[in-house]
Amino acid sequence: MKSKVFAGIALLGAMTLAATACSSGAGGGGGGDDTITVGFAQTGSESGWRSANTESMKAAFSEDEGFELIFNAADNDPAAQISAVRDFISRGVEAIVVAPIVEDGWDDVLQEASDAGIPVILEDRTVTASDDLYAAWVGLDFTKEGVMAGEWAAETFGDTPTKMVVLEGTTGSAPANDRAEGFAQATEGTGIETIDSQTGDFTRDGGKTVMEGFLQKYGVDGIDLLYAHNDDMALGAIEAIEAAGGVPGEDIQIVSIDAVKDGMQALIDGKINYIVECNPLLGDLAAGLVRDVLAGEDVEKTHFVEDQTFTQEQAAEVIDSRAY
Ligand code: AHR
Repeated sequence: MKSKVFAGIALLGAMTLAATACSSGAGGGGGGDDTITVGFAQTGSESGWRSANTESMKAAFSEDEGFELIFNAADNDPAAQISAVRDFISRGVEAIVVAPIVEDGWDDVLQEASDAGIPVILEDRTVTASDDLYAAWVGLDFTKEGVMAGEWAAETFGDTPTKMVVLEGTTGSAPANDRAEGFAQATEGTGIETIDSQTGDFTRDGGKTVMEGFLQKYGVDGIDLLYAHNDDMALGAIEAIEAAGGVPGEDIQIVSIDAVKDGMQALIDGKINYIVECNPLLGDLAAGLVRDVLAGEDVEKTHFVEDQTFTQEQAAEVIDSRAY
């Protein structure tokens, strides 16, 4: 069963966003009688979205909220992230939260956590391991995000022959897999043809470098549409298009996902044409799940946060009021 948790709830939590220090030295058992010791294995710091997600998690798992947080960012290295989870297990933390870099490869370490009696809560991305091996997941519907991006492209280009290039997220990650699938579903039967698709690893530099390669191969005139799996890669691509003498948003239309501040500004400036949101403010929901699971309550396995879409006009209306 799926429970739908609306973005507004997450946004309420975001109002309390504040930079918080996190503990990195303590072992298991907690910092005080009622303090809950939690290990959080973050993907890394690849994007603006990730920074906002980390900030949300640190605020929600702060000492003021009754937690001692052991934070690890794995620099987008799946093996390092699994090692971090093993380290949390050996420290005897009370709960583990993971934003899995990739979907595969989690069975063994999740089984080890389960054997040690430590509940695991997933946030943001999903895994292919059995859901018996974790207590709950909270995040976004990445397939739906891809569908929403694809619906805009289908409405904009219809039957018109359209040459598209794609900047994929991290290979093997749930958002890269699902956003590709959702977009393909929504654009089936249109005139949109994918002429090239490569990973930019969700980073601005990656997006720029891969787009430079596309532009060398096809030229500005040979590309009509760019689908970027996140704003950071779209922003890197914009630099590459401008350096090649093109006008992003006009010569090459761009649709991307996240709706972080810089992406929204590029939308307002007409350099991106449409953005699908991916809400990073998951901290309060993840912390609530940790508390409930440790209290022995029955929790739903999956918790979806709702996303929105933005045109240029809609972005201009909301940009000043957004928390990220
Ligand atoms: O998993 C969410 C994705 O990860 C965001 O869309 C991207 O910006 C981040 O790196």
